[in-house]
Amino acid sequence: MKSSETFEVEVRGIRIEAETVRSFELWPVSGELPAFTAGAHIGVQVSPGVIRQYSLTNALERHRYVIAVHRDAGGAGGSMYMHDSVTLGSRLTVTAPLNHFPLNEAAAHSVLVAGGIGVTPLLSMVRRLCELGLSWDFYYCARVPARAAFLRELEELATASYPKGRLHCVFDGEPGATSLNLDDVLAGHRSDSDFYCCGPVPLMDAFSATFAGLPPERVHVEYFKAPAAATVGEGAAFTVRLSRQGKTFVVPPNRSILDVLKENGVPMLSSCQQGICGTCETRVVEGVPDHRDHVLTPEERASNQTMMICVSRCKGEALTLDI
Ligand code: FES
Repeated sequence: MKSSETFEVEVRGIRIEAETVRSFELWPVSGELPAFTAGAHIGVQVSPGVIRQYSLTNALERHRYVIAVHRDAGGAGGSMYMHDSVTLGSRLTVTAPLNHFPLNEAAAHSVLVAGGIGVTPLLSMVRRLCELGLSWDFYYCARVPARAAFLRELEELATASYPKGRLHCVFDGEPGATSLNLDDVLAGHRSDSDFYCCGPVPLMDAFSATFAGLPPERVHVEYFKAPAAATVGEGAAFTVRLSRQGKTFVVPPNRSILDVLKENGVPMLSSCQQGICGTCETRVVEGVPDHRDHVLTPEERASNQTMMICVSRCKGEALTLDI
């Protein structure tokens, strides 16, 4: 199954995981679900044509997916729909799993830093590390324990795997508490560890700055929101050709390829429209993309095989895409 294909699942479990977080157990309507790897996410259709991305938190099972959703009253509405309208027995349309935040199972040691709902992809990684008997340290930042989803599960995983697995909680909303010191995290672990971070943009930016001196292949981040400085698809005009449909369009300076395709009736799956989820990844047939996403690795960018058409543009005058 391609990541752009959708299928139906049924909600068979809903749990309150923290003050503002609910988890949803999604079971196949028939057969098995597509396989996934730790760190993967799926897209959930929350209204016609609108897909929201949620990390898979469970072990690598084929009979169910488990996602967790933070209720964001100031968001675009996807989380409110999940909290207020989805009930046991609801059918949801989802996309197959994608993983742009994979776990390196060959690492000497894994250090994971979560902020708030950023715990979700990292929880799946901890489950996998425990299953493989590998060592890990997990730094979990939240304001207070009541807002830390899956805290008890993480404590149980750490207890069961100690001393290979260790959980370090940083609740900076508690009296006298301080925030996580990332310099201490860097200094406190063997330099051949792999380091992961998922959480709010300020934590991610601080993490990227602190670990900038390490080889890039050992530093892994997954953004839920694009960094403030991100450029969202503006630049010089160029031509985009669709190799299978035989159509050609001009992409003006202030529009993205995705915008132009949608405006011209070319159906494309998309979600974040900020270059962070991977939903709109499209194969490049010819031309050199100007990559502006936060999904592809430096090697993937250099290969020019695919691009995120919601933000990335063209380094020359024309691109040909496999559409
Ligand atoms: Fe999310 Fe393009 S829609 S990367």
